[in-house]
Amino acid sequence: MSNHKILLEESEMPTHWYNVIADMPNKPAPYLAPDGSPIPPQAMEAIFAPALVEQEVSSERWIKIPDEVREIYKLWRPSPLIRAHRLEQFLGTPAKIYFKYEGVSPAGSHKPNSAVAQAYYNKVAGIKRLTTETGAGQWGSSIALAGQMFGLEVRVYMVKVSYEQKPFRRSMMQTWGAEVIPSPSNYTESGRKLLAEDANNPGSLGIAISEAVEEAASRKDTNYTLGSVLNHVLLHQTIIGQETRKQLEKVGDYPDVIFAPCGGGSNVGGMMFPFLADKAAGKNIRLVAVEPTSCPTLTKGHYAYDFGDSVGLTPLMLMYTLGHNFMPPSIHAGGLRYHGDSALVSQLYKEGILEAMAVSQLATFEAGITFAKTQGIIPAPESNHAICAAIQEAKRCKETGESKTILFTLSGHGHFDMASYDKYLAGGLEDYEYPEQAIHDALDHLPKF
Ligand SMILES: Cc1ncc(COP(=O)(O)O)c(C=O)c1O
Repeated sequence: MSNHKILLEESEMPTHWYNVIADMPNKPAPYLAPDGSPIPPQAMEAIFAPALVEQEVSSERWIKIPDEVREIYKLWRPSPLIRAHRLEQFLGTPAKIYFKYEGVSPAGSHKPNSAVAQAYYNKVAGIKRLTTETGAGQWGSSIALAGQMFGLEVRVYMVKVSYEQKPFRRSMMQTWGAEVIPSPSNYTESGRKLLAEDANNPGSLGIAISEAVEEAASRKDTNYTLGSVLNHVLLHQTIIGQETRKQLEKVGDYPDVIFAPCGGGSNVGGMMFPFLADKAAGKNIRLVAVEPTSCPTLTKGHYAYDFGDSVGLTPLMLMYTLGHNFMPPSIHAGGLRYHGDSALVSQLYKEGILEAMAVSQLATFEAGITFAKTQGIIPAPESNHAICAAIQEAKRCKETGESKTILFTLSGHGHFDMASYDKYLAGGLEDYEYPEQAIHDALDHLPKF
């Protein structure tokens, strides 16, 4: 049996992030103001560090990772690529299954790859405080960690339903010195407005973004950070795919198909973009984003200009969206409860370069438990979406006898998600119907200009 772990030395860690915009067949559409006029990049500097705005619109292919960021990455990177021999044996599949394990970061997911970079550039810009939103708590934990490392204060608006489901994520953020506020809250105009309409509003990523943006826009010493969706976030995550390529080269393998869970698209972009040039050159590789059936942004959404937040404070982005005021059901993969998707991922999906599929909540937990029982690691509920798709593909290979190479991102561990596992094991989780009417109603409110 070949090795389980395929490791890189610290010296083999990539020195640059890969900017997919340089190689996209069609350049991305501009961000727009509510009246439909293009937003000049400088306007984004009201809430983002200048270096991040530059990265947002850059078309340079390679962007150097600052030494200060690489030094912090080395606390856990390069992350392991693991051949899932035991899962393969359990499934009796001729397929080879590999997963890139991002749960080895201190926060337990891929999110610190961008959090560390964002905190660094804000520090350089003289910013003292950061605000952000968090769903599952993975991004909030990551920015709490990164803020601590660069001496920045952090305030996290945490989606209320996740705040209640995941109390230890909150403790984790507080351990790293961040302040955590359940959203919607009374701290902002956006939050107060929503609470006045419904005091029991469970919150959503879109709402938490509104609160964090509103606060950052109102203070000079404070900037906003986003854990997904934006071009610069996906850029930082490309370290995942670049490492994976090198690791597969070491064992002389190459994926036929890659699966990644998709919320806002950061681990999809991070893993898949470094493989896109091969696909453009004619390589037969499938790149598949996996989302929940209850929040089916790519598979059932519209490709349209929409706000990134619920209240309408962000620029308009051309993306797949379920409508900015769509309230996703309270599934346990909090990081996938987002109405929109990265503009880059959306465009590449629209152009047929990326694929997407949706899986239901119960199937994802069943897959996660199969994975935990065979490979040992208990995955984050978000990651279970990719595992579910990988297992389905491996079972198909068993039927057809194909020995495909399947790769997925295990974007995080589930150690702070055990209440969700408890609920699943006790039979208390359910599948949500595809929320057709709610999506239909929300799409009626797409901005018109
Ligand atoms: C472990 C994990 N995986 C995946 C996601 C989805 O985010 P993205 O689509 O940006 O990778 C999240 C978001 O919180 C997450 O915490």
